[in-house]
Amino acid sequence: MRRVALFGASGSIGRQTLDVLRRLKDWRLVGVSVHNNTEALAKIYAEFKPKYVVITGAAKPPEGVKALYGREGLVEVASAEDVDVVVVATNGIIGVFPTMEALKRGKRVALANKETLVAFGPFVKEVAHLGELVPIDSEHSSAFQLLNGVKREEVKKLILTASGGPFRTWPKEKIAKARPEDALKHPTWRMGAKITIDSATLMNKGLEVIEAHFLFDLPADMIDVRIHPQSAIHAILLLKDNSLKMHVSRPDMRIPIQYALTYPERVEIDIPPYLPPDTEDVVFTLEMPDTERFPALSLAYYALRLGGTYPAVLNAANEVAVYAFLDGKLPFYGITDVVERVLGENPYRKAKTFGEYLEADRWARRRAEEIIRRYPGPR
Ligand SMILES: NC(=O)c1ccc[n+]([C@@H]2O[C@H](COP(=O)([O-])OP(=O)(O)OC[C@H]3O[C@@H](n4cnc5c(N)ncnc54)[C@H](OP(=O)(O)O)[C@@H]3O)[C@@H](O)[C@H]2O)c1
Repeated sequence: MRRVALFGASGSIGRQTLDVLRRLKDWRLVGVSVHNNTEALAKIYAEFKPKYVVITGAAKPPEGVKALYGREGLVEVASAEDVDVVVVATNGIIGVFPTMEALKRGKRVALANKETLVAFGPFVKEVAHLGELVPIDSEHSSAFQLLNGVKREEVKKLILTASGGPFRTWPKEKIAKARPEDALKHPTWRMGAKITIDSATLMNKGLEVIEAHFLFDLPADMIDVRIHPQSAIHAILLLKDNSLKMHVSRPDMRIPIQYALTYPERVEIDIPPYLPPDTEDVVFTLEMPDTERFPALSLAYYALRLGGTYPAVLNAANEVAVYAFLDGKLPFYGITDVVERVLGENPYRKAKTFGEYLEADRWARRRAEEIIRRYPGPR
């Protein structure tokens, strides 16, 4: 019996993890967290009866249930003796606290939350070897599997694929006028609102490049991006002899979620392969990303190359700017404008400690809010 705590249980990854757990034999959900969604918590509780319920926002616990609260609640559950695997599928940097605690206690962390590695990569890396850090993000799950058994000196590049988002074929002038409802129409993946906007700007891929750097210990120059609209190839290794090793599956997060739980074992799943006769129109196209129309990708590489708190600042400013765009307070390219300005002003260049990284995150959020308040032009 493997006992799982699932943080962010009411979200897109959370719901799909519940679906995987319903089908896996000998797995038990013993802990959950939600932020604001009282209704989802009531339903999850009624079905799974988890021992631990954590509320990080304003959700109300089900009747008669004693909940734990906030970051302390997540850490308490992550360190509980009767939790073996922690799935971190919350939004935001709060994910770093239970992730590090669970790793320090030798547990497996199945990590979906990108912010944890992007903002606090050096600190997570320090403790990762104490437990097991298995990525859920589809590109990183693929890279994790592709790199298995390959000698590092034989790898020339790791290539992450991106669908290109809803604006892949739009000219820059049209993208500039895009509204939240346009950006929320992702062509291949169904995800939460924040990551869907990040996919439209390509910041999502930028965050993933940074995530891959920390997960696989690869320098920025060894991580590339290609646009692959079918979202069937998730990652590619370019090897020394110029051959390519790819990992292909349908764009369904339940595959990498299940693998992060059952690794190193593989288990049957009711998702057909991306292969005839199960899929008629098997097509693979790969294009270079256009950083002129999608400057977020260059900003992420810039932050990664500068290192230190720059990725944390990039992540924090971007998060604030994305929600401002969703609220109609910023035009689409305002997101990358704000991120670029905040990065350029980062006063935490020499930061070393975890506390200073947290301060850098808070500073970047405040600074982004100030810039957004005075942002000129029509929304
Ligand atoms: N969706 C995907 O396909 C996908 C793929 C790869 C990686 N990821 C990453 O996985 C994470 C979750 O993505 P998602 O698409 O599942 O998001 P989502 O649908 O918005 O769900 C987010 C979950 O986190 C909770 N939450 C929201 N704000 C929070 C906060 N400040 N503190 C703690 N919990 C909070 C939500 O609770 P309430 O519902 O109660 O508000 C919900 O359970 C993100 O880091 C994302 O980048 C997602």
